[in-house]
Amino acid sequence: MKEVQEHFPDGFLWGGATSAIQIEGGYREGGKGLSTADMVTVGSRTEKRRVTRELNEDVLYPSHEAIDFYHRYEEDIALFAEMGFKIFRMSISWSRIFPAGEETEPNEAGLQFYDKVFAELKKHGIEPLVTLSHYELPYALTEKYNGWASRKLIDLFVKYADVVLTRYKDVVKYWITFNEINCLLKPYGNYLAGGMILEADQGMFTNPNSEQRLERIQAMHHQLVASARAVIRARELNPDIHMGCMITYHTPYPYTCSPDDVMMTLEEDLINNLMCSDVQIRGEYSGRALRYMKEHGVELEFTAEDEEILKRGCVDYYTFSYYTPFTLSKNPPAELTNGNMSRGIKNPYLQTSDWGWQIDAQGLRWALNNIYHRYEIPMMIVENGLGAEDHIAEDGTIADDYRIEYLREHVKAMKEAIKDGVELIGYTPWGCIDLVSVSTGEMAKRYGMIYVDKHDDGSGSLRRLRKNSFHWYKQVIASNGENLG
Ligand code: BG6
Repeated sequence: MKEVQEHFPDGFLWGGATSAIQIEGGYREGGKGLSTADMVTVGSRTEKRRVTRELNEDVLYPSHEAIDFYHRYEEDIALFAEMGFKIFRMSISWSRIFPAGEETEPNEAGLQFYDKVFAELKKHGIEPLVTLSHYELPYALTEKYNGWASRKLIDLFVKYADVVLTRYKDVVKYWITFNEINCLLKPYGNYLAGGMILEADQGMFTNPNSEQRLERIQAMHHQLVASARAVIRARELNPDIHMGCMITYHTPYPYTCSPDDVMMTLEEDLINNLMCSDVQIRGEYSGRALRYMKEHGVELEFTAEDEEILKRGCVDYYTFSYYTPFTLSKNPPAELTNGNMSRGIKNPYLQTSDWGWQIDAQGLRWALNNIYHRYEIPMMIVENGLGAEDHIAEDGTIADDYRIEYLREHVKAMKEAIKDGVELIGYTPWGCIDLVSVSTGEMAKRYGMIYVDKHDDGSGSLRRLRKNSFHWYKQVIASNGENLG
């Protein structure tokens, strides 16, 4: 009989998470091509980010320099090592490897950059966790094919995945295919995840009323097939590689106990949270997903070959981002709140961050239980954290106690879930080093344990400073989650 697990397991993978578009910069260096992220302007809490189809000299594009990891990776990795990281989540930039997406040969200089990053991680005993596609594709594919709306992207992605999987098959053990693949179920995923441009709307997150549902779900289907093909290829190259899905998970709460609200909550879970992982873990769309598509007039172009590939390309482990829960009601009250680029009803029991994201550590335990007891495969939380403004005191300290409090509560929730029997193997809080916010393009929305002196207007020395959370997290890792301060 299994025993109740009272502690984090030995070998638990503590670390931190980032993505290429939010840290690298060097947007034209080493032969890199323009990516979809490179065309997005800076925004703010009130001003939306825009996609410009040509680069405009008078506009600030935060990804172009980001936090300059491209030149500072050695210093950054040394800081991760000082905190005791066992694993570091990063993504490879597709446009560094195939600058326009359709070259026959990969860009060797782009590969050499990642050779160096992986060697540096290895030097410090840190395991890389690599996302193949994190909100980025060569921009040329957006203009030529309207991004993932086209089936052509599957072959182009697989060609790219094949190159990096082949090169790093013995260096990188943990992979994720697509970041937050299920965000293509929502209009905000159009450009962000699908690289699809709306002629009438150059806003990055598009008009929420513009449905485009068929195109988006077809794009998501293409990514699901591409993901499965990458999994199949990785296994051929090295059967020990671990391939994961990555889902943006919002714990769904009914606003009232009316059966209507409860049913709506179940539907939210089955479609927006679970639809993609059902495909990536079970190899086929659930009955509920098929019904959803039918009732919304989504007639997928779905070949017999797709069916066979989805069946064969199931992932080994489940990863997800968890920031905020989602409250639903058939008769919503007027008061709404922000939440990870979507909107939901304000939950009166929860506090919100400065950016209006609701904070709920128990929702993480709920999510871990719900997901694990559905799939029973190892799980990793690959994003979680508090975006907040930080201030440097005169003596140089950054007292981010609010972040420590947030992380502490979430680590406690993880421990409870482990006691519940969940097989949790790792935790990589988001933006372990301050980075560019995806939703607003700001630097002011900081998640890091390492402060980066860079500001919304692009100014700053790029100097790195340790926040109080740096020292706190170091002690958490050293005690394998026992000493939470
Ligand atoms: C996730 C993304 O949705 O949320 C990250 O995978 C992103 O790329 C993170 O940065 C936090 O969102 P934001 O808008 O605060 O950067």
